[in-house]
Amino acid sequence: MSLLKEIQRRRTFGVIAHPDAGKTTLTEKLLLFGGAIQEAGAVKSNKIKKGATSDFMEIERQRGISVATSVLAFEYDGIKVNILDTPGHKDFAEDTFRTLTAVDSVIVVVDVAKGVEEQTEKLVEVCRMRNIPMIVFINKMDREGKDAFDLLDEIEQKLGLRVVPLSFPIGMGYDFKGIYNIWEKNINLFTGDSRKDIEETIEISDLSSPELDRLVGDKAAKTLREEIELVEGIYPDFDKEDYLNAKLQPVFFGSALNNFGVRELLDCFVDIAPSPRPKLSEERLVDPKEDKFTGFIFKIHANMDPNHRDRLAFVKIVSGKFERNKPYLHVRNNKKMKFSSPNAFFAEKKEIVDTSYAGDIVGLHDTGNFKIGDTLTEGEIINYKGVPSFSPEHFRYINNADPLKSKQLFKGIDQLMDEGVAQIFTLELNGRKVIGTVGALQYEVIQYRLEHEYGAKCTYENLNVHKACWVDPKGSKSEEYKEFVRVKQRFLAKDKQNQLVFLADSAFSLQMTQQKYPSIKFHFTSEF
Ligand code: G4P
Repeated sequence: MSLLKEIQRRRTFGVIAHPDAGKTTLTEKLLLFGGAIQEAGAVKSNKIKKGATSDFMEIERQRGISVATSVLAFEYDGIKVNILDTPGHKDFAEDTFRTLTAVDSVIVVVDVAKGVEEQTEKLVEVCRMRNIPMIVFINKMDREGKDAFDLLDEIEQKLGLRVVPLSFPIGMGYDFKGIYNIWEKNINLFTGDSRKDIEETIEISDLSSPELDRLVGDKAAKTLREEIELVEGIYPDFDKEDYLNAKLQPVFFGSALNNFGVRELLDCFVDIAPSPRPKLSEERLVDPKEDKFTGFIFKIHANMDPNHRDRLAFVKIVSGKFERNKPYLHVRNNKKMKFSSPNAFFAEKKEIVDTSYAGDIVGLHDTGNFKIGDTLTEGEIINYKGVPSFSPEHFRYINNADPLKSKQLFKGIDQLMDEGVAQIFTLELNGRKVIGTVGALQYEVIQYRLEHEYGAKCTYENLNVHKACWVDPKGSKSEEYKEFVRVKQRFLAKDKQNQLVFLADSAFSLQMTQQKYPSIKFHFTSEF
């Protein structure tokens, strides 16, 4: 198959949701349709449940599993589908944000009873900022939930989307009868125990057909006709270009657990979802169809196996094709590297592959050469943008608890930071190290991993910081900048890339500082 065809048949996406909305269940059902797995229960959720410590041991136990489920690939209808898994727990949100830099589109799962939840709002906002095409799946229609129209309103208002329903539920909860597929104009009836097999779709070319009354009953048929009329009146027609430009978001209804409405979603998805999209680098816009390989690292995963202290770096191929044993340029290190055993991912397995194409993810064994955001090319100097660090919300001093192991501690911290577990800041005033994280759980993860993977011990000390923001002196008045650095020295630190960071101790002080030094820009992500 030609390079062009290979690239065009790839769909790389992520499923995002608030925990418990049904992300894992939906992912699993998609894999079932793809024939990638044979039975339900095969995909392990890597979510962390309620408590903290016991769960975090659980993460460790599941680390091996989550490597395997980080990318789930399968073939469906001649299309190569790559699902990138995203952790649901909010303390790992940054990991999810980074994974979103490697997807070409997303499916957003919303629980019909709970509606739009906090984590959904945050994740969708990131997707909106990046103009990522989104499809919404409203899940758990077998349960009582919100009225479909109210929920669509809520999605428009809270998520700032412009929705167009492509399927519509017939009843809900106890009265849930099935789905009217607006996209294909047919009906799919729900039997309630269709976990694996679903009833054959019934073609209804005309909603006014008496066949509909016979199938779902007079009352439900009447309601459906009225609702579809309303849908047609209220919502815009589906326009593929608008969807691809993130200006319009199709909505599907269903029940992932009962495997209902999932096929409609998948069929439409492979039809409309984008193949790999061009990506902006600092140098130029790179088209996926270019024949030279380029890619960037969006995730690094440490291996569980203590005998092999290597890590797996996940590369999203942006353009061309990646080949085993071919020398590629590690742009940041200006070093050629060859990879003899690149992994590709298929459902729950990973295996060594010779060739992968734009859109695919390959896993490269790494002994510490990579960090998140690194670019690989065939020789051209390209630096991909868009894997920023986000402003952390928790801050603690980190202290060495075993003076004999300081070397191990530094190495451990260094590598964990490259993996993106947290961020480290060095205070300008006294050189003390501060760890900033998005969630509090990360501190336990760091402590545990330092001990088990590097044999080092650390303790933490609280530090009162409200927010870290990156200081951008470009365009600032030189006198103003000098004064800022002098007056605020106590609150200044450098990040790992030596960029200046302002650690504001309260929202008020941040605001005052911004007002006092109007020519200096303060950013909430490291990339500006
Ligand atoms: P997540 O990955 O988004 O966190 O959600 P997950 O798929 O784990 O689903 C969360 C819970 O919701 C699970 O129940 C799951 O069985 C249930 N669920 C998912 N889809 C549907 C649906 O269409 N209808 C109904 N009624 N329930 C659904 P749990 O009890 O928390 O977990 P489990 O013990 O059943 O695995």
